[in-house]
Amino acid sequence: MFAINANKVNIKKNRMLIKGGRELNGEVLVEGSKNASLPMMVACLLPSNGETILQNVPLISDTFITLEILKVIGIENNLSGNTIRVKNLPPKSSMIPKNLASKVRNSILFLGPIVAKLGEVTLYHPGGDDLGERPIDVHIDALKLMGVDIEIEKDIITAKAKQLPLKGAEIELSNPSVGGTAHILITATIASGKTIIKNAAKEPEIEALIDMLNNMGGRITGKGTDKLIIEGVSDIELSGGAHKVIPDRLELATLVTAIAMTRGQATIKGFIPQHNTALLNILDQTGLTYKVVEDYLTIKVEKDLKPFKVECKPYPYISTDLQPLLTSLATQCEGTTHIHDSVFFERFNHIPYLKNMGANISAKGNDIYVQGKSTLTGDVVIGKDIRATSSILCAALCGDGETELSGYYHLQRGHANIIEKINQLNGDIKLID
Ligand code: EPU
Repeated sequence: MFAINANKVNIKKNRMLIKGGRELNGEVLVEGSKNASLPMMVACLLPSNGETILQNVPLISDTFITLEILKVIGIENNLSGNTIRVKNLPPKSSMIPKNLASKVRNSILFLGPIVAKLGEVTLYHPGGDDLGERPIDVHIDALKLMGVDIEIEKDIITAKAKQLPLKGAEIELSNPSVGGTAHILITATIASGKTIIKNAAKEPEIEALIDMLNNMGGRITGKGTDKLIIEGVSDIELSGGAHKVIPDRLELATLVTAIAMTRGQATIKGFIPQHNTALLNILDQTGLTYKVVEDYLTIKVEKDLKPFKVECKPYPYISTDLQPLLTSLATQCEGTTHIHDSVFFERFNHIPYLKNMGANISAKGNDIYVQGKSTLTGDVVIGKDIRATSSILCAALCGDGETELSGYYHLQRGHANIIEKINQLNGDIKLID
């Protein structure tokens, strides 16, 4: 059984004891982005010689599992500090076992590049956060168009290339899937001929992947638009090189929420204005004071926060991943906030617990209404995925009394040292077993 290295991830302790009611103040740094670095790690499979270096990689459990997947397929890698070095050798194994594949969503991204290199792959169904139904049809349909035969039996996905190299194809996505777009970009980089992705995702994490692939020698145009064109190259034309992971805009928003809900004043380093226009729009609606200087965002709560109206949709709209945090934030705004999440249906893991803590929330389907402002009170609560846990964590930091929150395991999937960061800002969180 695969075990996460306990030196890197604390698997023994899952409960946090949070003392509420302390203003968060000071300065804090955002880590590299989880959702940017994971596909970049998969892209390290592509070049067939030399070395690929990834810098500013977040030390989170999804990173360690992805490194473990690279290892089991025979790709040597070394993590030192926040830098990963990957030897660019062809994979030796085409089998990704269940105990790894089922732990992360991004394991599906290995399907295309391994089949493109070795002609076949066996993979267990990917895992990831339980956000309701998370189909993989976009991934499967795209690979089929590129000349891959795929069979899915129970939890096992078996893929075989009809020919190598895989062939470029015109692929129109049924929705702008982030993972689907990343998967096709990586696979099509070493396919023969041209691939066109229509209705592609435009998230900054996709742009970061395109930059990496192009810097390796890939030929991708259309960055930032929903039509991406990839002219395939041979893997021997690709060279590794060094690539820096962009700051995590989701962690940034998590810290903003915690600081705002505790009515603190703090500066966050790692703010990229063009990645965060939708977040700033919400801050404008709430009336919170903020200042941007280079990559520093300083926020300050001077007045009562106003309610806001927001739609969580694919970029450039606000991310669905921020919906749970915004729900929590809305409990501290005076009036009715309406949040519409059009990406996931009933992504509501946080809501019963926020209600138990005193929030006034009604939620159905894709809509959430929060009536604020509410006094939140510490409770014994459970976080069931990364963003639900961080949403409840923010509520606990702002609430009266102590909260016992289970779900540190989930936080470690998406945030490195989040407890240390919040405590550095005057929070009081202890890990208990
Ligand atoms: N979808 C399909 N078919 C597919 C794939 C997706 O119908 O084959 C649908 C999904 O059901 C969903 C929508 O498309 O309604 C968007 O899913 P997407 O494929 O974009 O999600 P993902 O790539 O699996 C990434 C992030 C998630 C984030 C979503 C949406 C990573 C590793 N994960 O997932 O992040 O919620 O995009 O932005 O990049 C998180 O960080 O907490 C997290 C869950």
